[in-house]
Amino acid sequence: EKDGYPSFMEKEIHDQPEAVLQTLLGRSDIDGRLTLDEMRIDPEELKKIDKIIVLACGTSAYAGHVAKYAIETWCRIPTEVELAHEFRYREPIITPTTLVVSLSQSGETMDTLMAVRYAREQGARTMAICNTNGSTIPRESDAVLYTHAGPEIAVASTKAFLAQIVAAYLLGLYLAQLRGNKFQGEIKDILADLNKIPAKIQSVLDNADPIRELARSMKDADSVLFLGRHVGFPVALEGALKLKEIAYIHAEGFAAGELKHGPIALIEEGQPVFIVVPSPRGRDSLHAKVVSNIQEVRARGARTFVIAEEGDEAVKAYAEEVFFIPETQPLLAPLLATVPLQIFAAALAGAKGYDVDQPRNLAKSVTVE
Ligand code: M6R
Repeated sequence: EKDGYPSFMEKEIHDQPEAVLQTLLGRSDIDGRLTLDEMRIDPEELKKIDKIIVLACGTSAYAGHVAKYAIETWCRIPTEVELAHEFRYREPIITPTTLVVSLSQSGETMDTLMAVRYAREQGARTMAICNTNGSTIPRESDAVLYTHAGPEIAVASTKAFLAQIVAAYLLGLYLAQLRGNKFQGEIKDILADLNKIPAKIQSVLDNADPIRELARSMKDADSVLFLGRHVGFPVALEGALKLKEIAYIHAEGFAAGELKHGPIALIEEGQPVFIVVPSPRGRDSLHAKVVSNIQEVRARGARTFVIAEEGDEAVKAYAEEVFFIPETQPLLAPLLATVPLQIFAAALAGAKGYDVDQPRNLAKSVTVE
């Protein structure tokens, strides 16, 4: 079943082009008109939504963080992302025009389920983005948008994460279409770029030997930091979580802009730091700012490993090693930039001789609060 891969996690990392493809399939026509047939919420009601709250835990919450950037950009609907277990124990403001979107691979995460129930009781419309047909969270929600990543066996989530981002993006584009926030032509262009993502992930996978080699050389590291900005920030958080979960290495992700507000004090000679660099073709100042963050940590002795867009020669001068990902529009970059970090964690944990699929203390689906 592992298709010749050493672990389910490795297999699932390699399933990602297919997971993205399947999640996109059949959800738009050739004019770029989204047809989310499964959506059981009346379009008239969706037009009135004035706030979105995304609820999830762990990796799924990071997918939510990525989606927030896209949904706010495309739909201009204020979007919050909250850990499900935090949401329930405060007094969240929910009205009948609030859409609560839950993200869950398993559809059985108790924290998320309880938060969804609570939101429903408070009168919100609830929608589940879920990878498991017929599981509890979609059954208890008003609507569901399934990710079609296929069963995910490894405890560490990989392909479900990319599929969740894609599904949340489809939801964002659908809302933008309904509400007329975007021209149909723009939606069509974004969908066309999304459709190119599977082949681009494949190219990241085909060129992953250098990152595996780096991982093997770092098996004695005791701390690794990850920096990112904009959508690269949740990617950094996800890179750090993968490493904690399966390699048991202390890892933290930071918003690169936050460095000087504290975390830079951690940097000492030899500290490995991964930096997710935004496209130089995106918002101009963002790229320059992250490049200057690389310089700042490097000047303090950090070993800098950079994920950057192909052709971004400017980063080379400051990086011990650069891992290039294909060009795409900035909001879609997480679908590519996450992949080398997943491969890094799997290879490092493998090099340490750990059970990559069944890390200690963790369960695939957390069905207790
Ligand atoms: O099944 P869910 O997506 O609801 O699970 C949420 C988290 O428990 C899950 O993402 C967890 O963080 C993974 N082990 C991450 O790799």
